[in-house]
Amino acid sequence: MTLSFAPGDADAIPLHVLSESDWTDWCAAHEGQTRDWLEQLGFSGALGQVMLAPDSGGAQAFVGYGSTATRRRGRFNGADAAARLPKGTYRLVTELPDHERDAFALGWLLTGYRFDRYKSQPSNSATLQVPNGIDGDRLATIANGEALTRDLINTPAADMGPADLARAAADLADRFDASCTVTEGAALLEANLPMIHAVGRAAAQPPRLIDMRWGSDGPSLTLVGKGVCFDTGGLNLKPGSSMGLMKKDMGGAAAVLGLTQMIMALDLPLRLRVLIPAVENSVSSNAFRPQDILTSRKGLTVEVNNTDAEGRLVLADALSLADEEAPDLLISMATLTGAARVAVGPDLAPFYTDDEMVAAALAQAGTAVADPVWRLPFWDPYEAMIEPGIADLDNAPKGGFAGSITAALFLRRFVSAERRYIHFDMYGWQPVAAPARPKGGVGQGTRAVLDALPQVLGL
Ligand code: BES
Ligand code: MN
Ligand code: ZN
Repeated sequence: MTLSFAPGDADAIPLHVLSESDWTDWCAAHEGQTRDWLEQLGFSGALGQVMLAPDSGGAQAFVGYGSTATRRRGRFNGADAAARLPKGTYRLVTELPDHERDAFALGWLLTGYRFDRYKSQPSNSATLQVPNGIDGDRLATIANGEALTRDLINTPAADMGPADLARAAADLADRFDASCTVTEGAALLEANLPMIHAVGRAAAQPPRLIDMRWGSDGPSLTLVGKGVCFDTGGLNLKPGSSMGLMKKDMGGAAAVLGLTQMIMALDLPLRLRVLIPAVENSVSSNAFRPQDILTSRKGLTVEVNNTDAEGRLVLADALSLADEEAPDLLISMATLTGAARVAVGPDLAPFYTDDEMVAAALAQAGTAVADPVWRLPFWDPYEAMIEPGIADLDNAPKGGFAGSITAALFLRRFVSAERRYIHFDMYGWQPVAAPARPKGGVGQGTRAVLDALPQVLGL
């Protein structure tokens, strides 16, 4: 599906977005039938209220915008009116501050997102004309990148295995004249990507490394996304309750592909490379085992103490490959640890970087575009936790303390010290529906990165 604004010329229904105090002011200035109508129906400007009222010769719509305090609890405030108003074309007539107007308009588009791949009847929804002062094309591009991310995550593993993920990447590449090569199965061993092979070899669909490139000028950016299409945990099998959501374990890959679509559609002046290890962490007689020792692309050996800590293994080889080319900025995105969720819950995407400027730019961008991210530390004193007895590294430190940090430290071992590197330990899933974020797959960190890129890369 394509998310878009309504054409500007249609006969649009005026849409008021009024906070509680705006409503008081509005009442003072608008004595008469419309005010009586809304008052009688109890409109107060409370966040989430949606009402229609007569206008001279037509209709008008009112959306409650609450107060600063209620808005702080949410994101894309009021934008879910898109799902609750009757089908029609609306025109925002309230002047909102810049950031809020952007969030409202983007939220309106994202509210129109449906995962309709398995639904027979199309949905109908209210559409919004591009509000004044907004770059409608840019917002629509961002919304459609996010929709791609959601579609990829929401598609069950039976239809989104490593082969399907590779096809999705190739389709995206085709649309923007990007190149896309895929290294598959035993070829991974020849290409010296042994850990991607080890994790994915037990699955019916062979493991792959997807390698996309786009753009010929400007600074270089490499995105690496965890593409574990289903995570059973491998031989250290997950309990059923933990396995239930693991179709989303390619959320990092989905986020990276959504961001890639945004970057290409906006034609950003940079050279982009996208690396996605696409595997299924499955169970079979040839599965990798606890206590196996793997030799990574970089040469570091890894003792497998839990086959469920598979994400860092496939990412390590992809990061080594990325690092060899010395990109100006390297970003990994991954649904890497349950510990990240214990720490910050489903809303926030923790990120790691040693670069203070990058950290500040990301945090600020996240707030500005309603894509909140939160910095956690690459805490050097915990390095000892990922060093076991008989190999260089341990993929699953005992004790379970600081699980997101130790996973991040593990990844950093495969990136040169001088590289500008950002790692996101994301969730990729909205557990309870909220405005513009239906229950299901969701991108995290992508819009924050997009917003921070000009500053970080000097575009
Ligand atoms: N994909 C999971 C992490 C995950 C679990 C993300 C639940 C989001 C929700 C990852 O592969 C994993 O299983 N990690 C283990 C690592 C542990 C064995 C060291 C974890 O977090 O429990
Ligand atoms: Mn796992
Ligand atoms: Zn996983």
